[in-house]
Amino acid sequence: MEEKLRKIGAEASKALAEAGGLEELNDIRVRYLGKKGELTQVLRGMGALSADERPLIGQIANEVRASIEKELASRTIMLKDLAKEQRLKDEGIDVTLPGTPLPRGGKHPLTIVTEEIQEFFLGLGYSIAEGPEIETDYYNFEALNLPKDHPARDMQDTFFITAETLLRTQTSSVQVRTMEKTTPELPVKIIAPGRVYRRDDDATHSPMFNQVEGLAIDRRITFSDLKGTLDLFMREVFGPKTKTRFRPSYFPFTEPSAEVDISCVMCGGKGCRVCSHTGWLEILGSGMVHPRVLEVSGYNSEQVTGFAFGLGVERIAMLKYGIDDLRVLFENDLRFLQQF
Ligand code: DAH
Repeated sequence: MEEKLRKIGAEASKALAEAGGLEELNDIRVRYLGKKGELTQVLRGMGALSADERPLIGQIANEVRASIEKELASRTIMLKDLAKEQRLKDEGIDVTLPGTPLPRGGKHPLTIVTEEIQEFFLGLGYSIAEGPEIETDYYNFEALNLPKDHPARDMQDTFFITAETLLRTQTSSVQVRTMEKTTPELPVKIIAPGRVYRRDDDATHSPMFNQVEGLAIDRRITFSDLKGTLDLFMREVFGPKTKTRFRPSYFPFTEPSAEVDISCVMCGGKGCRVCSHTGWLEILGSGMVHPRVLEVSGYNSEQVTGFAFGLGVERIAMLKYGIDDLRVLFENDLRFLQQF
């Protein structure tokens, strides 16, 4: 019996040394140590042994078992390490492969145009002012010489939140807010970019759009300052050949008021579909600040004058880039946005 045990031990040891994989090791474990394994079978026969023999054989059996278990454990660790090494080799990283591309975002055309406008006016010594998009009736209308029943309010039908609170219809609301803070200091030279809201919705109007307001107040500011400033501005944005034209108009907060046109960016003034064969494109509203607006803001209209203007950023972007439907500006379609 002793011989048999030693033989099992030697066989198991040889099998373990030759085993090439973890599965094979498991088979070996079952074959020798399992319930029906060879060692177990031998031990079952122990009952037939004499009382003297039993402890000796029992000891040898335990030794054989222990040595098989020990070898099994060390062989398992070795094969696991080997497998891991192999896996690392197989999965090795090729550092020369191109990386995962990180798509780079770009500026929205409205941001590009707004920044260009800002750059221009900052260069002329203007600073940037801001006002709230949720505005009071006072700053949006009343302080701008548009009392509650004024018919010119109809042109800017808007979203009222309460009777006195609304989504501003124009950045002109920033005019009085600014002057209230600066009075009596001079000069006041600001532009106010921002979102405005109106109940409009078609290919050239959206319920939300962007404006840039301009305001310059000082002693002896004249209409020619307004003309010179806007003429320079239009040539900066639309190119040096651009001509400007001032047409008499009406805004409650300016007197006199003017609508400003530029020579058509498409045909250069010859007349085409874009300019309805007039050669001119309407760009913005402007005028000399109404004395009443100066007075409600705390300035003495006998001593100071000023000009103001307001332009639509979407309209400028559309003309500058030849966009024929305003809505693409708000759809976030990458095929459109990647063109800028
Ligand atoms: N706020 C006017 C509008 O939204 C545009 C405008 C016209 C602004 C004349 C002005 C201005 O500052 O003087 O239609």
